[in-house]
Amino acid sequence: MKATKFRAATVQDKDYVLDFCKNTFRWGDYIDRVWDIWISEPNSLFLVAVNVSENKIEKPIAISHGILIPEKILWIEGIRVDPKHRSHKLATNMSLHILDYAKKQGVLYSSAIVSINNEASKGLMEKLGFKVISTWSYLSIKPIVLPALNNFNKDNSSIIVANLNEYNSVLNFLNQSETFKTSGKKFVNSWRWHDLTEDRLKMMISNKQVIILVNNDDDDEDSNNQEKKEENNKIRGVAIIDEEGYWNNQNILQIVYIEADSDELLLSLIIKSLELITSLKGNKNYNRENKYERVQIFSPSPIKENSLIFQKFNVSFAEQFLLYHKKI
Ligand SMILES: CC(C)(COP(=O)(O)OP(=O)(O)OC[C@H]1O[C@@H](n2cnc3c(N)ncnc32)[C@H](O)[C@@H]1OP(=O)(O)O)[C@@H](O)C(=O)NCCC(=O)NCCS
Repeated sequence: MKATKFRAATVQDKDYVLDFCKNTFRWGDYIDRVWDIWISEPNSLFLVAVNVSENKIEKPIAISHGILIPEKILWIEGIRVDPKHRSHKLATNMSLHILDYAKKQGVLYSSAIVSINNEASKGLMEKLGFKVISTWSYLSIKPIVLPALNNFNKDNSSIIVANLNEYNSVLNFLNQSETFKTSGKKFVNSWRWHDLTEDRLKMMISNKQVIILVNNDDDDEDSNNQEKKEENNKIRGVAIIDEEGYWNNQNILQIVYIEADSDELLLSLIIKSLELITSLKGNKNYNRENKYERVQIFSPSPIKENSLIFQKFNVSFAEQFLLYHKKI
């Protein structure tokens, strides 16, 4: 008789686990790329379910990773059950185990991301009491060839890297934005959805990660009135860039939050953001088309199939993700 137990994953489990985490999704799986990171990541529990045979040999049959991220949130990721062992409540029990671990650490909430097409995982989340708080569009663009930005300036808008003087305007824009509200006030950081707090926003602006699309309808040339100027320079879109990459992928540029008034402006914001980021390097020989292998875009409002983005870029992968959340 085999018994199942849960314990922390060990280096020895790797090959057994990767064996059932190869073709999980139609594009494969990413567990092989995160294993070495997760096994030693602080503030996390990398859980493995093992079948224990009579002679005490342990064979991994499922995994899940839970990590404590800022704002007292437990991020759950990488739930995988060996296909031979599914529908026996392994995922449910592993998740409850991780939630219990987090609760003991004083964590208040838990979140996870699930593809809109993953019926089994959606069922699991809902059974665990998680609710969808936002739906995100994800696009992967490869290779990066920037299309020309035709006619953009005709409507008197400009796209610039925000500086700290614009912090209040960006904050006001986000606070009034319906899209930001429906995003759950989140941005993506290495495939984990974090709260976009005021401090975080300020830090991102000082790091030159925030790009804004502004109206330049400044009729009153002589006006020294700052308030009037701010009113005239109304923000109409925001993109937040992350150049750090994630996991072992340093050559991926991510737009980790984006919104704009219209599809056209969204496209302009993407093109100009990519241009700005590459020109910021100050390197004349900078080969933007080869620097990044891919650009990943995370948008909290749907990017539809008829979007100009699909016409102008070579989108190699597009998917929608549900952000699940629960008070624990
Ligand atoms: C999703 C997955 C982790 C579920 O593991 P599991 O151990 O079989 O799940 P459980 O037995 O604990 O099932 C819990 C609930 O999930 C839902 N569920 C599980 N498998 C399902 C399926 N094939 N279809 C629909 N709902 C399903 C059900 O609501 C189920 O509750 P119920 O049995 O009372 O109806 C597993 O199918 C898997 O490894 N899939 C591939 C990897 C993956 O998608 N991971 C999640 C990425 S976010």
